[in-house]
Amino acid sequence: MDLNPVLSQDTNYQIELFENKLSLYQKQDKHHVFVDFNSKQLNFRSQAHINAELVNKAVLGKKKQATTIMDCTAGFGKDSYLMSLTGSQIIAYESNPLMYALLKDGLNRANIDTISLRKKDALKEVKNTDCEVIYIDPMYPTNKKSAKNNKHMMFLQAFVGHQAEMAEQLFTQALLSKAKKIVIKRPVKAAYVLAKKPTSQIVGKAARFDIYAK
Ligand SMILES: C[S@@+](CC[C@H](N)C(=O)[O-])C[C@H]1O[C@@H](n2cnc3c(N)ncnc32)[C@H](O)[C@@H]1O
Repeated sequence: MDLNPVLSQDTNYQIELFENKLSLYQKQDKHHVFVDFNSKQLNFRSQAHINAELVNKAVLGKKKQATTIMDCTAGFGKDSYLMSLTGSQIIAYESNPLMYALLKDGLNRANIDTISLRKKDALKEVKNTDCEVIYIDPMYPTNKKSAKNNKHMMFLQAFVGHQAEMAEQLFTQALLSKAKKIVIKRPVKAAYVLAKKPTSQIVGKAARFDIYAK
């Protein structure tokens, strides 16, 4: 896969193999961005109460029964990973080639087989999914200060950016599917996508999950 056209979007970054991990080196801040499912933060979260993770409360509901989930916006795979630890099977989509390459490398290194990653535009696939739940976490604008404190977010802003219409488009297609539930992650104070009031909500400090039961 030729990643050079994507890399040239921001010359501050260069691709490197860092401690055997496919990573992007940010020259200015001298840091590496890579996917690490063994990070302290994820280990802590995954070993605590996995069903208490807000994303899992949202996708599994009260029954807490494992299910099949289409993650339309895989990104760094954190949400996919947390959802997969409930025993659910995840089909994750990532359309950005650089993001896909980093995530694929992370999944291979961690030997995770409950997440099936596809390098495709979820918009084209979501209507026909066989999964019971559709999960959408689109990019949204962040203020510069919070992006600067989060290296992964800085990277996403540089290479993916804010995709203004994506939430609406994915949601519109998801509503046409046979899935029983759609969950959309939103900034806490954001308006509802398509101005559609959710069936229920889970609100955290940093994000909100709007749940649409069909
Ligand atoms: C906010 S990030 C998701 C973060 C992710 N939930 C996590 O836990 O790391 C959004 C990601 O979705 C991807 N994306 C956006 N629209 C997409 C689409 N239509 N199909 C596939 N991937 C998409 C972007 O490239 C970006 O990597």
